[in-house]
Amino acid sequence: MDINKKQNLLITCGREISPYLCKEVQDLGFKVESQHSTGVIISASLKEAMKLNFCLRTALNVLCLLKQITCRNADELYKQMSSIAWEELIEPSEYVSVSSRVNNPTIKTSVFASQKAKDAIVDRIAQKCGSRPNAGVEKENVVINLFWKDEKCWIYLNTSGRKLSDRNYRKIPYKAPMQEALAATLLKAANYDGSAILVNPMCGSGTIAIEAALIALGKAPASLRSNFGFMHIKGFDSQNWIDLRKQLSVALKKKPDFKIIASDIDKEAIEMAKRNAKTAGVDHCIEFHVCDFKDTPIPQEKGIVIFNPEYGQRLGNQRQLETTYKEMGDFLKQKCSGFTGYIFTGNMALAKCVGLRASKRLIFFNARIECRLLEYQLYCGTKRVFKDN
Ligand SMILES: C[S@@+](CC[C@H](N)C(=O)[O-])C[C@H]1O[C@@H](n2cnc3c(N)ncnc32)[C@H](O)[C@@H]1O
Repeated sequence: MDINKKQNLLITCGREISPYLCKEVQDLGFKVESQHSTGVIISASLKEAMKLNFCLRTALNVLCLLKQITCRNADELYKQMSSIAWEELIEPSEYVSVSSRVNNPTIKTSVFASQKAKDAIVDRIAQKCGSRPNAGVEKENVVINLFWKDEKCWIYLNTSGRKLSDRNYRKIPYKAPMQEALAATLLKAANYDGSAILVNPMCGSGTIAIEAALIALGKAPASLRSNFGFMHIKGFDSQNWIDLRKQLSVALKKKPDFKIIASDIDKEAIEMAKRNAKTAGVDHCIEFHVCDFKDTPIPQEKGIVIFNPEYGQRLGNQRQLETTYKEMGDFLKQKCSGFTGYIFTGNMALAKCVGLRASKRLIFFNARIECRLLEYQLYCGTKRVFKDN
């Protein structure tokens, strides 16, 4: 595959994240051709896809369109898939994984479509090269994605492989961890760029604080990853990638002249957060405290306070949480004047207990749970923080 030839790239993201992804893609110098609720489309080369994989904080996958086909059923899928010159993309020694999203009346499960597509790929390579690649569900090597709706099917080469939200710093996930790309998006929604102080009580395993440190340092989100889908494409030039990676790492780095404070009542969570921060190479940038959120030290300089409290779906007891949410409101009002406060929650009934009027209510999804990022302007002096009712 010619790594300099322009291709049609679909960059995917979580629901409601595409406006932030769109901005990130544009800031990297690309023109967005179209934007959907879970992705953006651009025209870029495979070499540029490498840069996108390395630099994008809010994306999940960078997919390269190989072909759009018309197929009514599984046999037609097999036939059409067999017409692609897979032997030019995949070595027989590689391992292939196919993932599908299917909405076609003849197909009961997407697993069946993936198997049929995988058979077409490995059979074609076996026929052309004399031996077939191994195949399975692991996404560590060549990954192919199918989006099949009615009679139209789009076949993509997944240049990311594993999702880009897997940054590789969270080795042991603690209770209810937030997806890294979502944490980065929330920080972008809060206009965080490292120039203001960030306080993150209830930090859990530290995802928000670590993503903030990566943003503030200008450290690439994928700088800990050593494996991407594009590395398994036939003709991949590893020296070219090493050079590009070096170039991008130097261009992004900034001085650590910012302040991030993270706290949690759970000692084990803080241990985990510290470990994750160390793995991410940002432990020197975050001040950690084991304490109730009400005792989190709030600096004189103003900035952002962001909470991701439990919201009763996975953790927490409803009654107790009502009190906690009320206390969060009191804490923001009494201790954080001059700051902009944020609460990310999937429980709007609990959010009402905060008792402050939100200046913004942004919708996001945490897995399938519809959530809100609530913003509170916590004015100093005479300006009132209005009560919600
Ligand atoms: C939903 S989790 C946060 C997850 C985090 N965003 C992450 O990515 O790992 C909520 C956290 O709030 C903490 N927590 C609950 N009540 C607290 C309190 N009163 N003071 C401080 N932390 C508290 C819990 O220990 C838990 O780690």
